[in-house]
Amino acid sequence: RPRLFSGMQPTSDSLHLGNYLGALVQWVAMQEQFDPIYCVVDLHSLTLDTDPKVLRQRTRVTAAQYLAGGIDPARSAVFVQSHVAGHSQLAWVLSCITGFGEAARMTQFKDKSARHGQDGANVGLFTYPILMAADILLYDAAKVPVGEDQRQHLELTRNLAQRFNSRFGQTFVVPEPYIVKATAKITDLQEPTAKMSKSAESQNGVIDMLADPKVVAKRIRSAVTDTEREIRFDEEAKPGIANLLRIYSALAGESIPELEERYAGKGYGDLKKDLAEVVVGVVEPFRARALALLDDPAELDRILADGADRARQLAEVKMARVYDRVGILAPQ
Ligand code: TYM
Repeated sequence: RPRLFSGMQPTSDSLHLGNYLGALVQWVAMQEQFDPIYCVVDLHSLTLDTDPKVLRQRTRVTAAQYLAGGIDPARSAVFVQSHVAGHSQLAWVLSCITGFGEAARMTQFKDKSARHGQDGANVGLFTYPILMAADILLYDAAKVPVGEDQRQHLELTRNLAQRFNSRFGQTFVVPEPYIVKATAKITDLQEPTAKMSKSAESQNGVIDMLADPKVVAKRIRSAVTDTEREIRFDEEAKPGIANLLRIYSALAGESIPELEERYAGKGYGDLKKDLAEVVVGVVEPFRARALALLDDPAELDRILADGADRARQLAEVKMARVYDRVGILAPQ
């Protein structure tokens, strides 16, 4: 079975609905036909200035949510990035074949560093996509399920794999992004042209998967729409309604045309009320499962240790090969 790799940053106390629909749902569905490795990318989170205690807790919370969403540790290796040394080792090697300008063109870096200002941004933010490329190439992943915002990073990853292979001989699989269009960009409920994001200034437009169901329902009911009354999918003219339909369709397993038909002649209030129920119906059991897993941290840590063992075996073989290719003298 082809290898799959993906990861999320432990940058908040909860995943949001965008992470869930854009990534986690795909991860779960792909467990059947692929050989997946799902990583909590804690080293990436060091680019943000987080309290060490909080980061440690969020790392467990993120792993618990993978499992709560349906990742089965018997099928998928689930582990924490820093537990396998190869990620940082390969990132260094890849950074030495990455052009400065190439890295500087990454739009996420440009956005993030603009937010921090020239001196506030750290070098880690700049080299972040190279570490991400290392995550993927270390395991010969053929496919990488992600949301739309990661497309450019995947393009860089492919370029680095091809460049390394042509300079040093066939070493890496060139991975393909796996991006499901319908859910690749879930938008903010208050600002429906911007993606739903952990770093949004106001959290009112964000649905946290671990939030109190009452808060979830309220946020859906107060989603920004438009001044028309017609419920139809029109991304340009009606981004708010389009987003609600997208979420509804993905969670309820009904097509958007079916929903348009069902809500013909009905008001935005009806749509929001029903959608709130659908979302709560998913979030409530998800939250209960995650909390139960967090109640037994020893079991969670055992799953992560097992996942790290499986990942480490692959990573060590790959790293030895990479070092050999580039001319590192093996320790005798
Ligand atoms: P992160 O932690 O920001 O997001 C995790 C996943 O959620 C997707 N996503 C969304 N999908 C749809 N709509 C949204 N509003 C939305 N917001 C986030 C992201 O695309 C991602 O798939 N750099 C990555 C983490 C990473 C990684 C990797 C991913 C590090 N190494 C290797 C894949 C492979 C990131 O910051 O994702």
